[in-house]
Amino acid sequence: MDAFLRQSSTLTGTLTVPPDKAITHRALLLASVLEGVTEVAPWSAADDCRRTLEMVEGLGVGVERVGGVVRVTGRGLQGLRAPAADLWCGESGTTMRLSCGLLAGQPFRARLTASPSLCRRPMRRVAEPLTRMGAEIQGTGTALDLHPPLSIHGRRPLTAITYRPPVASAQVKSAVLLAGLWADGPTTVDELAPTRDHTERLLAHLGVPVTRRDLSVTIAPVTRPLPSPGRLTIPGDPSSAAFLIVAAAIVPDARLVLRDIGLNPTRMHFLQVLQRMGASVEWKVEEDGWEPRGTITVTSSRLTGVTVPAREIPLVIDELPILMAAACAADGVTMFEEVGELKVKETDRQHSMAEGLSRLGASVTAHGRSGIAVASSRLRGAVVESYGDHRTAMSLAVAGLLAEGETRIRGAECVSKSFGDFFEVLASVAAPGAVRCEVDKP
Ligand code: S3P
Repeated sequence: MDAFLRQSSTLTGTLTVPPDKAITHRALLLASVLEGVTEVAPWSAADDCRRTLEMVEGLGVGVERVGGVVRVTGRGLQGLRAPAADLWCGESGTTMRLSCGLLAGQPFRARLTASPSLCRRPMRRVAEPLTRMGAEIQGTGTALDLHPPLSIHGRRPLTAITYRPPVASAQVKSAVLLAGLWADGPTTVDELAPTRDHTERLLAHLGVPVTRRDLSVTIAPVTRPLPSPGRLTIPGDPSSAAFLIVAAAIVPDARLVLRDIGLNPTRMHFLQVLQRMGASVEWKVEEDGWEPRGTITVTSSRLTGVTVPAREIPLVIDELPILMAAACAADGVTMFEEVGELKVKETDRQHSMAEGLSRLGASVTAHGRSGIAVASSRLRGAVVESYGDHRTAMSLAVAGLLAEGETRIRGAECVSKSFGDFFEVLASVAAPGAVRCEVDKP
């Protein structure tokens, strides 16, 4: 499918976005080891979360989908079953890395397979600590890293460790904490920089003893069954909302209200960056449960370039592509420092975004050791590639709303990884005719 964008003179409306992908993964994985039935409602039925749902099914967990709700019949902490076949993670890095944590504590072998793009992504970052805890993990070794398919044989109990990951990664932190459920003592992760905290929030909500201090989080092993809370309600995904928020900030005559969005502080950092750039954006917590949720309101603004320092990068890791698009509309230059992690996402996002924005006429240059500088640019429509990456496709689409003439995004169907109806939603708030899609002819 290709998407076609034209300059939009306006962007107005009140919207919701799909349920949070990161929280859905965690809810499905943890519900599978609870006692009783958990309704995950609404769940993100995006491609990545479907892979996690299939993963838990493959481990013998009962799942039933009714409309936007998934009912997971947990098998308890000791009840997961050895899979009869390989467990397919598709393109979902979160499914693979978090499942490694869960499987590290299971006394059986499982094989995790993946699409070619996920097979290129680094897995040593989870294999290393989980091996230290006692799991056996094999993959395709290269001089640089370990890659899928992975074979993992867990053990129970695992050895409790204190781990300081060499990269600031919520997936690595989560894999170690999940494994810690089956460890012989308290398991601690000391982070280099803050990352999203959904795993520790959900573990605490489910009754697991979790202690947090600065950049350190510890979980105690669980010695009694964990009862299901009955229902885990998933808020809208702020990382999906980010594309619409930036669109409303940079398109003239725009006002968007986004309701029921997750407002977890570890996911809100991109809004702070946008505010520093001068965006008129506000958010209000309306329900402060295990994950806070509420409303975000954004109106057209005049933006100015800022520096996003290395320490903030892990907190905006998924919003960097859309912030790069925003930077094209900002006066001056926006610097993103140390963005090397962008190279190991679904595609090399540093390359896909620099190439796409440059084709649209933007000035994107290397900055320092592994940073990028994006200068204020007048954009012109062009043909650009998604490289199969959902966030690249959606970010270039938003840039296309500013460009003179037509922007064509090739391979736009990849948005189904997180936000299947993105183009319909964008069309519903943009000027008539600004957004359309054409499905490839066979
Ligand atoms: C995620 C963590 C981030 C993020 C990914 C989802 C998670 O990855 O980019 O989209 O759900 O924990 P890293 O942990 O590799 O930074």
